[in-house]
Amino acid sequence: MSPYKYSTLAVHAGQSPDPQTGAVNVPVYLSSTFELTGIGTDRGWDYSRAGNPTRDALETALAALEGGTSGHAFTTGMAAIAALVAMLKAGDHVVCSRDVYAGTVRLFDQIVSGYGIQIEYVDTSDLKAVEKAMRPNTKLVHIESPSNPLMVLTDIAGVAKIAHAGGAEVSVDNTFLSPALQSPLALGADIVMHSTTKYLNGHSDGLGGALIGSKPEHKDRFLLVQKAAGGVMSPFECFLVLRGIKTLPLRIKQHEENGRAVAEYLSTHPKVSKLAYPGLKSHPQYELACRQQKGFGSMMSFELKSRDEAARFLSTIKIFINAESLGGVESLASHSATTTHGSVSEEVRQSMGINEGRIRLSIGIEDKEDLIADLEQALAAV
Ligand SMILES: Cc1ncc(COP(=O)(O)O)c(C=O)c1O
Repeated sequence: MSPYKYSTLAVHAGQSPDPQTGAVNVPVYLSSTFELTGIGTDRGWDYSRAGNPTRDALETALAALEGGTSGHAFTTGMAAIAALVAMLKAGDHVVCSRDVYAGTVRLFDQIVSGYGIQIEYVDTSDLKAVEKAMRPNTKLVHIESPSNPLMVLTDIAGVAKIAHAGGAEVSVDNTFLSPALQSPLALGADIVMHSTTKYLNGHSDGLGGALIGSKPEHKDRFLLVQKAAGGVMSPFECFLVLRGIKTLPLRIKQHEENGRAVAEYLSTHPKVSKLAYPGLKSHPQYELACRQQKGFGSMMSFELKSRDEAARFLSTIKIFINAESLGGVESLASHSATTTHGSVSEEVRQSMGINEGRIRLSIGIEDKEDLIADLEQALAAV
């Protein structure tokens, strides 16, 4: 347990001044290989797929921010999820939140299930449904809270209790809140996963993913996957994420302030329905959000009446950018049915409650009054 508080860790964890030069930033070690000091001896690194000093710094920082024992950085968030399920074998059963990122469903259904691993999608906001889905061969319960784009929460501590009683581990995709606003390991989860592409990098200029484990066997396992399967984050991307992490606490404060202001504005707008934002008292899981999160984040979604209205809105916004992704300094708006959930059949989308008018917002760190004025003029055009 570190004696330091969060903002201090964000600036310093894994990032002591360079012992040789005194540089206060971790150098970008653009070296695929490292000189050995003899036969079978080295200075800590031999080949960058197995380990790289810049990646080590980022992995130490990630473990500190999530309160884990080891961090592991991958090329993308999807590569991190692929590494997570690489700990499973044929015949294992996975319980997965029904509302996860559609890319996770694509990976599970089109690749992982082909390895003989059974994936079962469950509404994990319903603990009874999780309990019912558990089988003797359930090895992993993978959840995303809040979910995308409907912002449905899963009680992480509740799921952890059920999963552990059944001998399974719990992994949490913590991308939507970042370690600044939710600590799944402290709530009882075993592994945290991130798309660092989002809030951790924070500037929409790189792709990356991470796993943070809580046990020594996670470290052994994920180091093996990094070395054996590759898919590791490049030193330059590691530097960008390290740089992003230093301002994470500050950025998140502004994301949060803007997120609340925009949600309050949208909540009274006559053209907006089914606004999903856990920071509103009207959100059915507001109390759970207060209990398990340290803030409400800056992701939300709402419905317009039709695909035409959504298209009109997206072509009229000026500051918000019509783009996929989230967690960057700039505000983004996207049409869920054709972007994040474009690979999901219409039938499944309907059953999930994602209709053709659903718009997802990632609120950036611009001036909140400008953001609200932009939404006002775009909604007026609808
Ligand atoms: C919640 C969530 N998890 C995982 C991913 C995948 O991350 P990446 O795009 O870095 O592979 C995304 C991407 O949008 C996401 O939103």
